[in-house]
Amino acid sequence: MRIHIICAARPNFMKVAPLYHALKNETWAQPVIVHTGQHYDLNLSDAIFQDLGLPKPDIHLGVGSGTHAEQTGKVMIAYEKVLMEEQPDMVIVVGDVNSTVACTLAASKIKYPFNSKFKTKNSSLSNGHRPLIAHLEAGLRSFDRTMPEEINRLVTDNLADILWTPSPDADKNLINEGINQSKICYVGNIMIDSLEMLRDKIEKQTVYKEYDLKPKSFGLVTLHRPSNVDNPDILKNLCNMLVQISDKIPLVFPVHPRTMKNLEQHNLLPILNNSPNLLLPEPLSYIPFMNMVFNCRLVITDSGGIQEETTYLGIPCLTLRPNTERPITITQGTNQLCDVNNLMEKFHDVLSAPVSWHEPIKYWDGKTAKRIVAFLKELNAEAIPE
Ligand code: UD1
Repeated sequence: MRIHIICAARPNFMKVAPLYHALKNETWAQPVIVHTGQHYDLNLSDAIFQDLGLPKPDIHLGVGSGTHAEQTGKVMIAYEKVLMEEQPDMVIVVGDVNSTVACTLAASKIKYPFNSKFKTKNSSLSNGHRPLIAHLEAGLRSFDRTMPEEINRLVTDNLADILWTPSPDADKNLINEGINQSKICYVGNIMIDSLEMLRDKIEKQTVYKEYDLKPKSFGLVTLHRPSNVDNPDILKNLCNMLVQISDKIPLVFPVHPRTMKNLEQHNLLPILNNSPNLLLPEPLSYIPFMNMVFNCRLVITDSGGIQEETTYLGIPCLTLRPNTERPITITQGTNQLCDVNNLMEKFHDVLSAPVSWHEPIKYWDGKTAKRIVAFLKELNAEAIPE
């Protein structure tokens, strides 16, 4: 079974790696890594591949940056050609980036001259002359259609044949949208697989020492969402707030390229550089970044994945967004939504309160890739030899 695993941007790589490694161990599976090239910087791509033990991508589409339509279109055009040449039995897409929806669209409409080997549970969903499409991390919804990722999630989930979900709320969202239940399977959170796979290496590092910091004495910041960093007034307010917080606790803020571009363009870097307690390294690769997460006192972020990792690790997380597609991190975790007006207050609350303990979330256990492999074997018991 030739299985394309699509990856494109930083948050995809930690979702793809555990599954790639698990499939590589199966005699019936031939996993093929397809990198669309949406992220191309060393720090955002190659270094993370290395940390996760991923080989160089088998196929690289090299699409690079662009507007949403340009990027999505370029991936579709490039991947359609690959699909025709390679004719994979299955395509696995992850997360919610532009390449996720682009590859799903291309694979949905391709027509092979033969029937695909992979089957679905429900014959009425038969994929016929095209690869079976599975979406890993399906069903998450922020209910905010101004987020490009929400559009990508909605379209991808509507087109995919198999929807692997990370949490029960995701199953509910899909069912509420009228998606056939037989397509949905709660497999758990694949990112926790990466974290557990590399826990020893993460724990061995002491990256905080490079910044002259002690464990649990600093905050970690990441910001890259267009809603926070594209508007110069909002970005300026956030910069001022971070400077104020850094008066109370040192902050390490590895700056994403989108954010750096805007800080430079709007001449906001001097605000941040003025604070001796605000450190601005380049984006870190996976192991050093997770080492900083393990050792920080709190995280301030607008990332999706970090909300989940901090919940799993029991580290307070202040998410600078009006909503989250990962509500379980609030109801059963350490996450709180905030904005520039209440960030300071919530920051003080976090520092003064002990971290509350929560029951571990079901299937956030490092075994999601195993469950996916078992699912595929069961689904295709006839086609897959013992
Ligand atoms: C993308 C994803 C977002 C994800 C984020 C993680 C979409 C819609 N967005 O946003 O969901 O959370 O990745 O980082 O798919 N750039 C570089 N080097 C790179 C990549 C980008 O310098 O390797 C620059 C580009 O020139 C661009 C900016 O960073 O101006 C933003 O990149 P882009 O890929 O458009 O979106 P992200 O903000 O990274």
